[in-house]
Amino acid sequence: MIQILKSVFLLGVASSALAHIHSGNQIPFSDPRFTLNGIPFSTRAYWMRRANEALPNPCPFAAFGTVIVNHTGNPGLGELICTGSNNNSATGNPTLHGEISAINNCTTILTSPAGPYRLTPSQASAAFTSLTLYTNAESCPMCASAIRWAGFREYVYGTSIPTLIEKGWGQIRIVSAEVFQQSFELPNPSRLLGEVLTNETDPLFSWQFDPDFLCPAGCERLGGRCQSLP
Ligand SMILES: *[C@@H]1O[C@H](CO)[C@@H](O)[C@H](O)[C@H]1NC(C)=O
Ligand SMILES: *[C@@H]1O[C@H](CO)[C@@H](O)[C@H](O)[C@H]1NC(C)=O
Ligand SMILES: *[C@@H]1O[C@H](CO)[C@@H](O)[C@H](O)[C@H]1NC(C)=O
Ligand SMILES: *[C@@H]1O[C@H](CO)[C@@H](O)[C@H](O)[C@H]1NC(C)=O
Ligand SMILES: [Zn+2]
Repeated sequence: MIQILKSVFLLGVASSALAHIHSGNQIPFSDPRFTLNGIPFSTRAYWMRRANEALPNPCPFAAFGTVIVNHTGNPGLGELICTGSNNNSATGNPTLHGEISAINNCTTILTSPAGPYRLTPSQASAAFTSLTLYTNAESCPMCASAIRWAGFREYVYGTSIPTLIEKGWGQIRIVSAEVFQQSFELPNPSRLLGEVLTNETDPLFSWQFDPDFLCPAGCERLGGRCQSLP
């Protein structure tokens, strides 16, 4: 079932990425009856919620959170390797989107001599090909490219780029499926699962440019902007 849906989805993108963005015809993977690439929806939802919880508070303006998980050889929920969230404003580094923060964090954790993994750089690099990256919003082309360079086994996103654009976010209009399609020369295939648990990720990105949209739980409007309650 998923295989069929996924090929329909990719065909749609192949015909025209831009038309695809405007027509909003992505097929969401939000039906709890689906098993997504061998892993039940409930497990995907658990990690997507953890990606939401990777944020420093319930309503940062840039609410982009990521978790990186080892499902390989781990029945059940799998093992959390690291988290990350958008850190542009705290650091001044414009490349620190949630996904890049998480990849940096995982690299540190996997290679730390004091940590649980103690991998060499080449082992850490190889480890990414067996891991899954969950991110609460579809990756921009920079991050989608980083995900393909890393060779992640799976990449799972919540809110889509077309939805972010609809909500007022400035975006580079290249969807991840297109980056994935164009990266066929890279050695490690990655599975893409889009629009997972969007009913819980979309609200985190819906209040910033819409003064009437309800703040996420634990936050209220102060001076027009959602702020976390003390
Ligand atoms: C979001 O949808 C999923 C099914 O796709 C459901 O399991 C979950 O309870 C929903 N979340 C909320 C907050 O309603
Ligand atoms: C992932 O889990 C499997 C099974 O426990 C283990 O063999 C493998 O080393 C783990 N990968 C990483 C990067 O920790
Ligand atoms: C790195 O990941 C760990 C494990 O999930 C987390 O506790 C820590 O806060 C993360 N560090 C950063 C800078 O995101
Ligand atoms: C963001 O950067 C600050 C300053 O370097 C650091 O203290 C913090 O742990 C970082 N947070 C994340 C989520 O990466
Ligand atoms: Zn990005």
